[in-house]
Amino acid sequence: MNPKHSSNSCNTDTSRRSPPTGSSALPPTGTKMLSTGFKALPWNPLSCGPRLPFHPMFAFRVFGLIVMVTGWALGSIATAQEKQDADKSSKASEPRGLTKYMGRRIASPMGYQHMDWLSRPERIQEENPQEMLDQLKLKDGMVVCDLGSGDGYHTLQMAPKVGPTGKVVAVDIQPQMLQELSRRMAANKIVNIDTILGDLWDPKLQAESIDLVLMVDVYHEFSHPVQMLSAIRKALKPTGRIALVEFRAEDPTVLIRPEHKMSKVQILKEYQDNGFRVASEYDKLPWQHLMFMEKDDTK
Ligand SMILES: C[S@@+](CC[C@H](N)C(=O)[O-])C[C@H]1O[C@@H](n2cnc3c(N)ncnc32)[C@H](O)[C@@H]1O
Repeated sequence: MNPKHSSNSCNTDTSRRSPPTGSSALPPTGTKMLSTGFKALPWNPLSCGPRLPFHPMFAFRVFGLIVMVTGWALGSIATAQEKQDADKSSKASEPRGLTKYMGRRIASPMGYQHMDWLSRPERIQEENPQEMLDQLKLKDGMVVCDLGSGDGYHTLQMAPKVGPTGKVVAVDIQPQMLQELSRRMAANKIVNIDTILGDLWDPKLQAESIDLVLMVDVYHEFSHPVQMLSAIRKALKPTGRIALVEFRAEDPTVLIRPEHKMSKVQILKEYQDNGFRVASEYDKLPWQHLMFMEKDDTK
């Protein structure tokens, strides 16, 4: 079959369009004009077959662009996937948190958004913080850890009591709490406080560096009580103690939600199981237990 008469043959009819005048407007020898007005190249796989409403080079460029964009998109997806996998693997190495421990429901940590609650005026009446601090019998040169310091309600009061040769180490898991504490330290020109951003399972304290660990309304929030008590044990000096302050679960007149309260029986069960024993107790705070714990090396 003569290709010129085939319905599929190339359209080489140039008669219906007048080329622009002037020799520079004329196509080079061997170039034919398509009826659309685009030039047909001497050899062009796209110049045969159905008519194209655009120049074949345009199609090449679009195709190239699609390849580039697809490559970029696939690359981005792969990078996001790698990041997700890395996040997953770092989470996989974290110890699993608990929602219940030895029959007790663990409370969620108090969010920094509510830090104003820590300075509520009623606190003085409900907790008598001055009396609690007096019971700690702080002395010059002591190293005290305010574990779960929040915004530093107790930290700032303890710092002057240990003097310039002592210090308070404030640990919290929420940077916003520590930022507020740092702001207050600067405002009050207090320099003997170190802040540590801890992990849920690790307060990141130096071994055998602490005389007293104070925990006020904190322990019941620990999602990793076993790891935390083990870390505290290591951080305490041989004569070091814990001062544990928790709202009394035995007392219905203490108007605090149940998961934020603890009974003495429960406290003893959990602490004894983790290598501590009661050194002394103070039962005269308005709403809270104050129990001093020491390491029990027989365990
Ligand atoms: C109810 S607030 C008490 C703050 C402070 N002790 C006070 O009495 O004003 C409890 C604090 O414990 C912190 N916390 C909870 N789990 C913790 C953990 N594993 N290590 C350190 N801090 C923790 C929370 O972020 C929160 O700031």
